[in-house]
Amino acid sequence: MSKVHTVAVLVGSLRKESINRKIAKALAELAPASLKLQIVEIRDLPLYDEDIDNDAPPAAYDAFRTALKGADAYLFVTPEYNRSIPGPLKNAVDVASRPYGQSAFGHGKPGAVISASQGAIGGFGANHQLRQALVFLDVPLLQQPEGYLGGAGSFFDANGTLSDSVKPFLQKFIDAFAAWVELNTKG
Ligand code: FNR
Repeated sequence: MSKVHTVAVLVGSLRKESINRKIAKALAELAPASLKLQIVEIRDLPLYDEDIDNDAPPAAYDAFRTALKGADAYLFVTPEYNRSIPGPLKNAVDVASRPYGQSAFGHGKPGAVISASQGAIGGFGANHQLRQALVFLDVPLLQQPEGYLGGAGSFFDANGTLSDSVKPFLQKFIDAFAAWVELNTKG
């Protein structure tokens, strides 16, 4: 078997019953053996402020950046807030991107974005605004299949079991991502 690649997973919702967090966990279970998905929590990151990002940055910044630097790839699973990226996730991306010239996203390390919403558009706005930031941060992103999951309120039953109607797409997405990671990982 080829090398196991570690994937730092950032979930854009903080709420306990988040559909996106459930999707992230489902993707971790469906992932082929070549990928190991690990959620990196973003909840405790102080709002990005250059004044506190000095020689002694907040411990939460350090821990978060270290976790990202240790990963081979990045997976973003997010809802859309007001047609845009949820604030906590944008904050996490900003924290990771600094100090200037020392981004925790390794240059050229691959990524993917999947968005889910109870609405019909599937978080398209958040998905693409996040992609815009990640292009700037030199994270090559999986192109196909695109992951805009609308109507996500019915994806999991009361026991948290994933609907059979959604599973094939998630399988296809994570398999394509595994191939993308393989293609874009050096060494
Ligand atoms: C939303 N929601 C939402 N949905 C959407 O499709 N487009 C949007 O622009 C918004 N805007 C928005 C703003 C704010 C502040 C909240 C709290 C919610 C609804 C959102 O998609 C829904 O609550 C999801 O279930 C959130 O994802 P999680 O928390 O279940 O992962």
